[in-house]
Amino acid sequence: MGGSVKKESKSTPKGFFVTGTDTGVGKTVVSALLLKFLQAKGLKPCGMKPVETGCGREGRLLVPSDGFFLKEISGANENIDLITPFRFHHPLAPLAAGRIEGGRVEPGKIFAAFNYLRKKYDAVVAEGIGGLLVPLNENYSVLDMAREMGLPVIVVARPGLGTINHTLLTVNYAIGKGLEVAGVVINHSGRPEENLAENTNPEMINELCPVPLIGTVPHLPELSAQSLEDCAKKLFDSKGYFV
Ligand SMILES: Nc1ncnc2c1ncn2[C@@H]1O[C@H](COP(=O)(O)OP(=O)(O)OP(=O)(O)O)[C@@H](O)[C@H]1O
Ligand SMILES: [Mg+2]
Repeated sequence: MGGSVKKESKSTPKGFFVTGTDTGVGKTVVSALLLKFLQAKGLKPCGMKPVETGCGREGRLLVPSDGFFLKEISGANENIDLITPFRFHHPLAPLAAGRIEGGRVEPGKIFAAFNYLRKKYDAVVAEGIGGLLVPLNENYSVLDMAREMGLPVIVVARPGLGTINHTLLTVNYAIGKGLEVAGVVINHSGRPEENLAENTNPEMINELCPVPLIGTVPHLPELSAQSLEDCAKKLFDSKGYFV
């Protein structure tokens, strides 16, 4: 934790909902950066990955790697059932995985956990699954969950060719559906290619997007607590966002 005095700046939200233009774009890494940012402000946040698919099996247990990573970064002594209430083995959208595995995402159970964590912690950073229109059950999507949580949304985007379209679609659709979008983070999940698209995309997104480009996360050689903390400082504090 970054400091003993608990202080909440007026502009610091009660958390964030982290979505992406797609799966694998860096939502978990950016969620961890947001947790580190909130900790550096003297707050005690908790991460959450309400629904996770592609979970490994350990005996009869399904192990959610994102859920455990966010729990570890939060330093939260909580049962994983609260951090990731719904877990599926198949690496599919939850609706599809649930049909194969005989399970169904029940929003009521997610919100029982969310409301508990929200009361107990200063902030909750909730990671979505895939992009906004991923179906959690037959009539409830990631977007519905984000709206019900009422947290400002961060959109994580890829750096390369194609990202302008994916980012504008996601941001404009979210706003059109009534979500509060705080901004976009471009994340280098792979090594930078330094090609023309990667070099020009930040400026294009900043110009065309109705919300700010918060910054670009470099490819980090290691994803340790310390390197995430250092990166979070540069990404958020130097830009003045949420400070
Ligand atoms: N900035 C970064 N530096 C180094 N590695 C990264 C970075 N961002 C992401 N990665 C790596 O890229 C992969 C995908 O990132 P991450 O798991 O955060 O994506 P995601 O959007 O959360 O994926 P999912 O849709 O499966 O939840 C992971 O192996 C992660 O460790
Ligand atoms: Mg993830």
